[in-house]
Amino acid sequence: MIEHLYIHIPFCPNICPYCAFYKESAGRERVETFLDALLVETEQRSSQLKPRTVFFGGGTPSALSIPQFEKLLGGLHARLDLSNVEEWTIEMNPATVAADKASLLKEAGINRISMGVQSWDDGVLKSLGRTHDADKAEESFHTLRKAGFDNLSIDLIFGVPGQSLKSWRDSLERSLRLAPEHLSAYGLTYEEDTEFFTKLGRGEMAPDEGLEADQFELAGELLGKAGYAQYEVSNYSLPGRESQHNSAYWRGSDYIGLGPSAFSTVGSKRWRNIRETGIYSKTAMAGSTAVDFKEEVSEKVKAGERAAFGMRTNAGLPFSESSAWELELREAAGQGLVIDKGDRWLLTDRGRLLADTVAEIFV
Ligand SMILES: C[S@@+](CC[C@H](N)C(=O)[O-])C[C@H]1O[C@@H](n2cnc3c(N)ncnc32)[C@H](O)[C@@H]1O
Ligand code: SF4
Repeated sequence: MIEHLYIHIPFCPNICPYCAFYKESAGRERVETFLDALLVETEQRSSQLKPRTVFFGGGTPSALSIPQFEKLLGGLHARLDLSNVEEWTIEMNPATVAADKASLLKEAGINRISMGVQSWDDGVLKSLGRTHDADKAEESFHTLRKAGFDNLSIDLIFGVPGQSLKSWRDSLERSLRLAPEHLSAYGLTYEEDTEFFTKLGRGEMAPDEGLEADQFELAGELLGKAGYAQYEVSNYSLPGRESQHNSAYWRGSDYIGLGPSAFSTVGSKRWRNIRETGIYSKTAMAGSTAVDFKEEVSEKVKAGERAAFGMRTNAGLPFSESSAWELELREAAGQGLVIDKGDRWLLTDRGRLLADTVAEIFV
């Protein structure tokens, strides 16, 4: 049985200029058809699933209305054996948090929330095209606590043009005052097919790599002092509050993804669902599998992926799994990117900054 389930909800009330996740604007009818299709797809996969972790990602899952959530959550409970679920996460945009929605999610068994705050600086939020301000994000955080959620995560972004080191320090400190159980701090990436990518190409935006490195270091320092372990390059948690779902991906566990654009990996099989929501919905409703890409992944490729992900975590890469890349790892150690810990390889501070370069070793 597959223990990890991802569900992609592809709607956002507003499209952010930096984001490349598959999403589209929500229209009521489209959402209803999508939910019907998603439940059909759930039915098709239900015999393979007994999840320990469930993750509602997007897009903005929290953009669904209360009746839409009732349909989705009721439909999932009716079709899946959810008796083993230990961690059920939903991504929420602060602009879409409300007390009645939070209570409904809690009652349905969702027990972890990842909220996209991004920054506590209203100027930076504006540059990121966000529709909420810092005060709304704080109010939303308190609303979730009041609804009884005791496992909250905050997403922050650094490396945003115009975001000073002081603004970033303030964002980290204001996050810490709220005492979330988990924090993700992502360096802004200029993803293809986004407005920011176009602006970068035209020279209208320019990353400041030195400042970004200082911001990354500051996050490690402040969060570390406050008791948050950096258990993965971009992720920090209080003891025992690591994301179980993401940790399973990084270990290379099997998972099933439902919804448009979602990937699944089971044994040597990997597939991706149709991206466009309308076509996804039509295909699933016709009773066909909404898959548009399938591949066989060799054990060699999987071992490379496990190594690349493992290297990003504080567990590192055990020697027992690294012999195929011994030469390259020794070379990276010479460059100060990784360190030999006697039984495993770990990223150095510099290596954490250049984690994507290190990952290329394993491709
Ligand atoms: C799929 S988004 C969902 C969050 C939710 N829709 C929201 O915006 O609040 C998950 C997270 O990815 C991060 N993210 C998205 N695009 C990014 C980019 N280009 N660079 C860095 N982080 C990014 C943001 O921190 C965001 O909160
Ligand atoms: S960051 Fe969140 S709200 Fe913004 S477009 Fe991406 S998924 Fe949607």
